[in-house]
Amino acid sequence: MTSALASRTLLLIISGGIAAYKSLDLIRRLKEEGAEVRCILTEGGAQFITPLSVSALSGQSVFTDLFSDQEEQRLAHIRLSREADLIIVAPATANMLAKMAHGLADNLASAVLLASNKPILIAPAMNNIMWQHPATQANIATLRARGAYQVGPSSGMLACGEQGAGRLAELDDILAAIHNFFSKNKPLTGRRALVTSGPTFEPIDPVRFLGNRSSGKQGHAIASALVTMGAEVTLVTGPTSLPAPNGVTTISIETAQDMLQACQSCAAQMPPLDIAICAAAVADWRPETTSTSKLKKGESTSPPALTLTENPDILATISQPGTLRPKLVIGFAAETDHVTENAQAKFTRKGCDWLLANLVGANKGFGQDNNQITLIKRAPDGAMTNDTWPAASKHEIAETLATHIVHFFEG
Ligand code: PMT
Repeated sequence: MTSALASRTLLLIISGGIAAYKSLDLIRRLKEEGAEVRCILTEGGAQFITPLSVSALSGQSVFTDLFSDQEEQRLAHIRLSREADLIIVAPATANMLAKMAHGLADNLASAVLLASNKPILIAPAMNNIMWQHPATQANIATLRARGAYQVGPSSGMLACGEQGAGRLAELDDILAAIHNFFSKNKPLTGRRALVTSGPTFEPIDPVRFLGNRSSGKQGHAIASALVTMGAEVTLVTGPTSLPAPNGVTTISIETAQDMLQACQSCAAQMPPLDIAICAAAVADWRPETTSTSKLKKGESTSPPALTLTENPDILATISQPGTLRPKLVIGFAAETDHVTENAQAKFTRKGCDWLLANLVGANKGFGQDNNQITLIKRAPDGAMTNDTWPAASKHEIAETLATHIVHFFEG
């Protein structure tokens, strides 16, 4: 059976306590469950274990320095948090808890935690008197009040020879807390979703086609966000250079007609689809005929004329009323000008429930890492509403959309 951690990116912060050596085993166990584990080792942590052992076990470079000039480590304090599904601080020393509670950012670990809005699981480990100290108790209470999760410490013989509470929680308990976090945060469990992504290629002859600049980044990010929230996701994608997202059933197609067929066969399966999101840039037209051999220059005196015929509209087809219609159908509108007006007209034409309008053009929308969305819906009185989201990465946009979807199903 696939582990719930299989499609997860975990950021493990290892601070400087004797229990740091146990984090090596934690990395191994998380990797065995298929999680991607990125690690920050504080200066204190590196007194107890080496960056080499951490990188060997995690299979990734270890992050240690806030001011590193190495290309892959630049802006790590922003990137590492952004890409993580959960941040785990294990062991969390008294010093680390104090930094977190008071918003210090004087090393990479504390800067990442301050620059993050991601969930945090804290596994404290320290001497029992340090743990009982009112300052430490106030710090952990502050962190819990802000929404951090806590596992341990457990009680027993401590490394300093004293007896009491302060031992790092058992690895099984830390793993159970991680699993518990992910099972609680899967509000789309039991929902079936279809996502289209990428361009379509419409063949002219065996070597040429009509295509567009869609990279699939937006659609793939949406598929990942939905699977992270527990949905069972089928992604129908045109040609892209992106890997198939973890945990997603991915069907690769080339033409609009193939995309429609794949979507319809997905919609015909049971249980019925709950959600369909059409983020693909589907060609509106295809060449009326496709030559079976390469068109050659010089075979006629003038360049060949291309006669186009209309492609099926996948979003409009999926939106049609009927027993197979998903409960929530979401389209995109890619506009180069008058974004909201054009998108509103498209919203009415296509018959979907929500439409995400985005500006496309030179260095905008297609192929970029960032995007800006205006979400168009209908209010209960039938009036159209526009909600413009701040510009953000396509992954963040995917997460925001997934949150709107969760609210839709929670009523
Ligand atoms: O892939 P990226 O590089 O990350 O870029 C993302 C994106 C800009 C492609 C994406 O955010 C986006 O806007 N996707 C829709 C692109 C598009 O073709 O928009 P449109 O306005 O032409 O179509 C409107 C809607 O109808 C879309 O949901 C589209 O998927 C759908 N459509 C269009 C034509 C057609 N024949 N069938 C369709 O289903």
